[in-house]
Amino acid sequence: MELQEVYLVDYLRTAFTRAKPDEPSRDLFNSIRMDQALALLYSTLVHRNGVNAQEIDDVITGCALQVDENWLFGGRHPVLLADFPVSVPAQAIDRQCASSMNAITSGALEIMSGHAGIVLAGGMEHMTHVPMVDNKHISPNMRLLVRPEYLKFQMNVGYFMGLTAEKLAEVEGFTREEMDRYSVESHRRTARSYDEGYFKHEILPIRVEVDGEEKVVEQDQSLRRDTSLEKLSALPPAFKEGGKITAGNSSPMNTGASAVLLMSKAKVEQYGLKPLARILGFGWAGVEPSLMGKGPVPATKKALQRLALKIEDIDLWEINEAFAVVVLYAMRELGLEHSKVNAHGGAIAIGHPLGATGARLVGTLARQLVLHDKRLGVATLCVGGGQGFTTVIEKF
Ligand SMILES: CC(C)(COP(=O)(O)OP(=O)(O)OC[C@H]1O[C@@H](n2cnc3c(N)ncnc32)[C@H](O)[C@@H]1OP(=O)(O)O)[C@@H](O)C(=O)NCCC(=O)NCCS
Repeated sequence: MELQEVYLVDYLRTAFTRAKPDEPSRDLFNSIRMDQALALLYSTLVHRNGVNAQEIDDVITGCALQVDENWLFGGRHPVLLADFPVSVPAQAIDRQCASSMNAITSGALEIMSGHAGIVLAGGMEHMTHVPMVDNKHISPNMRLLVRPEYLKFQMNVGYFMGLTAEKLAEVEGFTREEMDRYSVESHRRTARSYDEGYFKHEILPIRVEVDGEEKVVEQDQSLRRDTSLEKLSALPPAFKEGGKITAGNSSPMNTGASAVLLMSKAKVEQYGLKPLARILGFGWAGVEPSLMGKGPVPATKKALQRLALKIEDIDLWEINEAFAVVVLYAMRELGLEHSKVNAHGGAIAIGHPLGATGARLVGTLARQLVLHDKRLGVATLCVGGGQGFTTVIEKF
């Protein structure tokens, strides 16, 4: 079977608001559900590219915690809310933080194998309405925590993302100061990119109700322009006594959605569109659950090896800032210069609504390749439970 080329034609996301399960009114998206917001992204992508919705071959949505209102009904919710024809199929994917990157991969594989010509792929997470901790609809398997044969997995750490970051920093010898410095730079790059207007081309403003008044949400709520190394150094450890991981060098908890439009070469030509990038390939790998932050390294090595590419061939990198230590570790192990990584800031400042992050990374990377006139890009993230996931793209 001859593989078809796959193009990333367009990308959009919502702003990422700050999730606060204990104080929901502080989340600007408290009055809406994310399947509604995602439906708006999907329909905007379809309409602004002049696509006939009858021709959509699949809509693939990722979400990490598919319970309560994050339940996607097999992916049908955003499709029906977008008012697409009932003949448009859908599916929902959970690969934790890589869910929407996996949605893009699944869509790309459908196109590569000739099973689809047009696919929408995206992700969403409402971390205020569906919290990742103290959620009675999520239950760890106690066998993994108490049975002797499973103790080697250290799930007493592996179930808690903050503790996995603590362990990575300890085992790999990263200091609090290195992580804090990295985090200040993430805020600085994001703030500068806002000032330069970078984000207005990827964020779809969303109308919501806040305190009985209509408000348009178009800026990420977690960005702290006034942060500094001094302020970060003063924050207490967030996950364990004497620890190094704080609210400042972790990604925050967020609410948001993101989406991309994928097409085969034939469909790009039929609609006369100019894509942002071509999707070249992918890689995914398992690692120790208690060191899940190591995931991007083996996943990226696999992806590059399959494509016969070297680290030096890659012009721009997006590595998810689940925690500063995850990026510091990947940069050290892969030998990357910081100037090529997360050029417009990352999750520490932008936010990390779990299921929405993967598509944001790939989408924003595609935009950067065009904006900075670079050829090859890698987007990668670590995954709760102990995995990494990587996508490699090339400027169109
Ligand atoms: C770390 C964590 C527990 C902190 O939760 P929180 O206490 O609600 O954190 P907040 O972001 O509200 O920060 C608490 C306070 O620290 C201070 N603070 C946080 N970041 C700061 C920064 N960059 N500069 C200065 N002060 C900061 C502020 O005083 C803030 O209070 P405020 O928002 O009222 O101003 C939470 O963000 C978390 O769990 N993050 C990881 C999420 C995760 O695991 N994702 C998956 C990854 S695999």
